[in-house]
Amino acid sequence: MKVMSMRRITVLVTYYSRTGNTEMMAKAVAEGASKVKDVEVVLKRVEDTSVEDLLKADAIIIGSPTYYGQLAWPVKKLIDESVKYHGRLEGKVGAAFTSCGGLGGGAETTLLSIIKAMLIHGMIIQGNAEEYHYGVVAIGEPDENALEACRELGRRVAELALKLKA
Ligand SMILES: Cc1cc2nc3c(=O)[nH]c(=O)nc-3n(C[C@H](O)[C@H](O)[C@H](O)COP(=O)(O)O)c2cc1C
Repeated sequence: MKVMSMRRITVLVTYYSRTGNTEMMAKAVAEGASKVKDVEVVLKRVEDTSVEDLLKADAIIIGSPTYYGQLAWPVKKLIDESVKYHGRLEGKVGAAFTSCGGLGGGAETTLLSIIKAMLIHGMIIQGNAEEYHYGVVAIGEPDENALEACRELGRRVAELALKLKA
């Protein structure tokens, strides 16, 4: 008898957004990940996300507006609380996206502030050789190009997490 392997994975997309721009990006990231077969997507505001949600996910994608060139404090709060499971997020796939006010406003340092925490957790980050190398950035309200890049980010993260689970 041939035994079929179940490779279902969970991708968590968690984000903070005060004026809706990062939220639009988060929805597009979730949409992209949900198009991948065998992937369950959980989309949550960071205020509603618990550290147990991080533990349950195979991949964690975090979105934050750029605030003073770094992640917004509600995102940092979740990250600091995640010390409860330090060592147990090792090997999960991570990624980041951000909405900022303008060019040169610190979007990439914001992405790196999220990615650094993920690396300290032992998570796996895939770069992008084509564009948005560190994660997706949108200035203000995301346009269709940025939304498509968000969908692509979700898809790539889901596909990598599936490969690692295989
Ligand atoms: C407290 C605060 C700090 C900000 N700092 C920056 C900044 O350093 N660089 C930047 O480009 N935009 C900055 N902005 C603008 C936001 O990143 C931008 O408006 C973003 O689109 C908001 O995302 P949201 O609609 O998801 O809340 C800041 C906004 C606020 C409220």
